[in-house]
Amino acid sequence: MTLSCGIDVGGTKILGGVVDEDGSIVEELRVESPATSAEAIEEAIEGLVVQLASRHPITCVGVGAAGYIDKQRAVVMFAPNIAWRDVDLKGDLEQRTGLPVVVENDANAAAWGEFRYGAGHDVDDLLLVTVGTGVGGGVVLDGSLYRGAFGVGAEIGHMRVVPDGILCGCGNRGCYEQYASGSALVREARGAVRAGSLLARELLDRAGGDPDRITGPLITEAARAGDPFAVEQLASLGRWLGEGIASLTAVLDPAVVVIGGGVSEAGDLLLGPARAAFGSQLTGRGHRPVLEIRKARLGNRAGLIGAADLARR
Ligand code: BGC
Ligand code: NA
Ligand code: ZN
Repeated sequence: MTLSCGIDVGGTKILGGVVDEDGSIVEELRVESPATSAEAIEEAIEGLVVQLASRHPITCVGVGAAGYIDKQRAVVMFAPNIAWRDVDLKGDLEQRTGLPVVVENDANAAAWGEFRYGAGHDVDDLLLVTVGTGVGGGVVLDGSLYRGAFGVGAEIGHMRVVPDGILCGCGNRGCYEQYASGSALVREARGAVRAGSLLARELLDRAGGDPDRITGPLITEAARAGDPFAVEQLASLGRWLGEGIASLTAVLDPAVVVIGGGVSEAGDLLLGPARAAFGSQLTGRGHRPVLEIRKARLGNRAGLIGAADLARR
């Protein structure tokens, strides 16, 4: 059985793992993402690969990266939330590790992982939406991964959903990820706290009185414990997500939509409102089959598992 290495580079963390042909993770490592330096990211990836390769006979490396990857699956042309501008990630990492490397967009890799081994294993057409630092999209059409003419298709996080809305890391205003990401969730909750909202008191207490300690996982924890403010924050995010998915469904007509990324850990606290908003916004509702919105089965590991599998092909 051949083993490959999968790496998932996000805005806050880098995950690395050794993955077998059944999509099972043999060993996994995690480091913080030094997102402000392209060089430091490469060093961190090299460190993970070297460690894993010292313990397992890996033959290739697949990297899922949160940015715009060229058609050759080599160069990161641009990234809204990471300091990558025209970086030959494939070339650099092959030199550093001595192994063949394939670079893929992180959400594309996650879509592929869920299609092969997870929540989309039973369908041929799926849309994956990752909800984390940004919002990522991955599309599998008729069993193959959709990349677009130049490699940068499915950048759903940068659809404009609010004219002249909040400024995005990509330089535009009103992008979907400014309303439907984990960063948006945290920004809104901290904003309410700083504005002195009494509704947010319980959450602030949970954060030890420090708004900066309000994070996505903390909001989810509070919502699970029944804090109505935290529940509403996740519900509001879910509504943005669901409405966006309704628009995307008008274009793509997938069989299932899989929600991944860190915030998907909130489960039905997020997915319930997303499904309701989707149902009330889908064009032709009542006259068409309704797709299922599912939680990612591979969770946060979909990207690394998908990237590892893509590297083998
Ligand atoms: C980036 C995408 C990435 C997504 C999730 C977005 O801001 O533009 O390339 O897939 O974040 O990480
Ligand atoms: Na994508
Ligand atoms: Zn944007």
